[in-house]
Amino acid sequence: MESRISKRVGAIAPSATLAVTSKAKELKAAGAPVIGFGAGEPDFPTPSYIVEAAISACSDPVNHRYSPAGGLPDLKEAIARKTLRDSGLEINPNQVVVTNGGKHAVYNCMQVILNAGDEVLLPAPYWTTYPEPIALAGATTTVLPTSEETGFRVTVDQLNASLTERTKALIFVSPSNPTGAVYPKEEIEAIGKWALENNIWIFTDEIYEHLVYGSSTHYSLPTLVPECADQTVILNGVAKTYAMTGWRVGWIIAPEDVAKASSTLQSHQTSNVANISQQAALAAVSGPLSAVEEMRTAFDRRRQVMHSMLNAIDGVSVLEPQGAFYAFPNFSGCLNRDIAGRKVETTLDLAQIFLEEIHVAIVPGEAFGAPGYARLSFALGDNDLEEGLTRISDLLNG
Ligand SMILES: Cc1ncc(COP(=O)(O)O)c(C=O)c1O
Repeated sequence: MESRISKRVGAIAPSATLAVTSKAKELKAAGAPVIGFGAGEPDFPTPSYIVEAAISACSDPVNHRYSPAGGLPDLKEAIARKTLRDSGLEINPNQVVVTNGGKHAVYNCMQVILNAGDEVLLPAPYWTTYPEPIALAGATTTVLPTSEETGFRVTVDQLNASLTERTKALIFVSPSNPTGAVYPKEEIEAIGKWALENNIWIFTDEIYEHLVYGSSTHYSLPTLVPECADQTVILNGVAKTYAMTGWRVGWIIAPEDVAKASSTLQSHQTSNVANISQQAALAAVSGPLSAVEEMRTAFDRRRQVMHSMLNAIDGVSVLEPQGAFYAFPNFSGCLNRDIAGRKVETTLDLAQIFLEEIHVAIVPGEAFGAPGYARLSFALGDNDLEEGLTRISDLLNG
């Protein structure tokens, strides 16, 4: 019998990261001492000056009404100022569209730019959401696998090898979810020049721009290759920088025709993002970066603990994450053996055994196009982090 669900939507895979988090929450609610390495969100509360701005916005009737579908003009101007402050990139507020989180920004730019049959280059390991909005736009994803040898960074040779006459866009994420890789300046320049020469759109996801460690620096691609600006869409949001995942505010910075089309799409789709959230985002992007600096210091400490504890486990190896808040260890040395009396063949099996036997949630690499690996977030308390890694180590070394 034909499915009642449309073929388009029936083909979407549920978000593996949200699935792990919700299973872990279920177990926790049932009283299990679960430690979650699955979540992609800071464990800090939203800074109080942002919350205060939202509280006062609630009592202003102007915020009780519809507002422009593409975003509050004040917020679009503040995003333009923030982009100049943080990236050194001069933009016009008309290039900004405020969306319901970064995910919505991703969905809209795929709808606005891609046609059926277009191909989009997606370096793997990739953030699990990307292939689905590409498919919903009727386009196809060309996965470009990367490994530890290149620091999980795609090379221009790989881009050239995958180029066809249908290639329309490249997805570029630095700092990366799930690998924590940060591209150095020269590699970003080379990728930008390649896109320019081949007339390829670049979707550059900068949502982790403020979370870089050690000697790594974040560069916004169009500042290094300004000629790319007319074929670049920047994706960003308040979620990770200001611990605001639940507020749902993201944005697109695009050439004006693309921004206008995206706003029109949004006018029939969601209308404006909740005004209260937009007012909170306005306070966030207009305010200081001190709260994210505090979070970054904590993440940096946890990153180093995670890196050394994981590398000390037999059969596990991991690169030191340079950005975001994820480590992406290689668990292939733990596969094809018995763990806790159970046969483990894949990292999906391993994740299930971790959850059931030691109440530790991780996201298997299969969710990111990288079987054999797993993603562990270090956005959790120091004690939980050490306890969770000790449980993994005891199980695998025992
Ligand atoms: C690479 C990347 N881009 C975008 C997002 C979207 O974040 P949100 O929709 O919460 O703003 C995420 C969230 O996990 C992400 O990891």
